Amino acid sequence: MKHNIAVLLSGNGSNLKAIINKGINVSFVASNNPKALGLRIAKNHNIPSYFWKNVSELEEEVLKLIVEYDVKLLVLAGYMRLLSKNFVNSLPSKFIVNVHPSLLPKYKGMNAIKQAIDDCAEFTGVTIHYVDEDMDSGSIIRQDIIKIHEIDTAESLKDRLQLIEHHLYSDTIKSILKKNSQD
Ligand code: GAR
Repeated sequence: MKHNIAVLLSGNGSNLKAIINKGINVSFVASNNPKALGLRIAKNHNIPSYFWKNVSELEEEVLKLIVEYDVKLLVLAGYMRLLSKNFVNSLPSKFIVNVHPSLLPKYKGMNAIKQAIDDCAEFTGVTIHYVDEDMDSGSIIRQDIIKIHEIDTAESLKDRLQLIEHHLYSDTIKSILKKNSQD
């Protein structure tokens, strides 16, 4: 049986694309941003896509869709809003995963890549973690590290981090789905 995920995003959707290309079954995509390119990627792949600018409305509707589509894992892929405590607590633990462009717990929040550069950090990386009530918190599932070069800009570093994300996130999602289906 194929195990379904749902994806929440706010932007470009490059991680969504990598997840789709990995053959993972995406039941629906939802966004708080009507202009998110990720919504277009979903449409191009005939994946039902939804947007609500109002975040409480989005959360309320997504909870209904999760039941309707029998979703097994909720994947945040560049969803730039903090989920409410009520939303997170309405779902089982280890039901929501997130990808973040830093070695958490370092550089939480927005502009994690710029934070690392401004801090003159020698290394940064990618973290995949379960989502709890707090921002960029929750237990860490996998991390990968890269060196920051002197010539790196926020853009060049983002490009290198995203190459890692695309493999690490889709691989991790596949492993979680496989493990959950065996439990
Ligand atoms: C990704 O780089 C992800 O790590 C970051 O947003 C980007 C979305 O890219 N997420 C966060 O910063 C979460 N705090 P995408 O829309 O191309 O997948």
